[in-house]
Amino acid sequence: MSPTQLTLGIIKPSVAATQAPVQEILKTIKASGLEIVRSKRIFWKAADAEQFYAEHAGRFYFPRLVQHATSGPFVALALHGPDAIKHWRSLIGPTHVYKGQWNNPETLRARYGLSDTRNGFHGSDSPESARKELAQIFEGWDVDWWMEQQGKEQG
Ligand code: PPS
Repeated sequence: MSPTQLTLGIIKPSVAATQAPVQEILKTIKASGLEIVRSKRIFWKAADAEQFYAEHAGRFYFPRLVQHATSGPFVALALHGPDAIKHWRSLIGPTHVYKGQWNNPETLRARYGLSDTRNGFHGSDSPESARKELAQIFEGWDVDWWMEQQGKEQG
């Protein structure tokens, strides 16, 4: 059986700006079998986004990644379920919207994303990233402790 995990899902500012798609997306997430255990609306300063995306500092797209992440409020979700990290990343689809629109049109980035930068969604890429990102977003949340209370493992 797949391990039960927690992951961070973000509905980025370009999508979070309108209420109707957010409601629709939350329904899609729940229907897919993921449980939303925490959620929060956040408006980042540049320093917050730079910390979150620190491993991408120096890449050509870093300035626009930070610029978009700080362009308006976004919705952060703690998602829980079997293999949650992979599950959420397959639900959102490829990083590049055009690739999803070509090969995986049912994925969330393909449906709601607008460009490489305004791709609509983020998902942690490993248990380590999930721990770090959830702790930043939900202010010191100890994911391992939380999982222990649930009697489950985090990767
Ligand atoms: S991942 O999740 O680390 O496997 O994804 P990766 O493809 O390495 O991309 C990491 C983040 O950088 C963003 N990115 C870009 N933004 C704008 N333009 C271009 N060309 C580009 N390439 C990568 C990508 O959206 C990832 O951020 P998130 O928030 O996960 O979408």
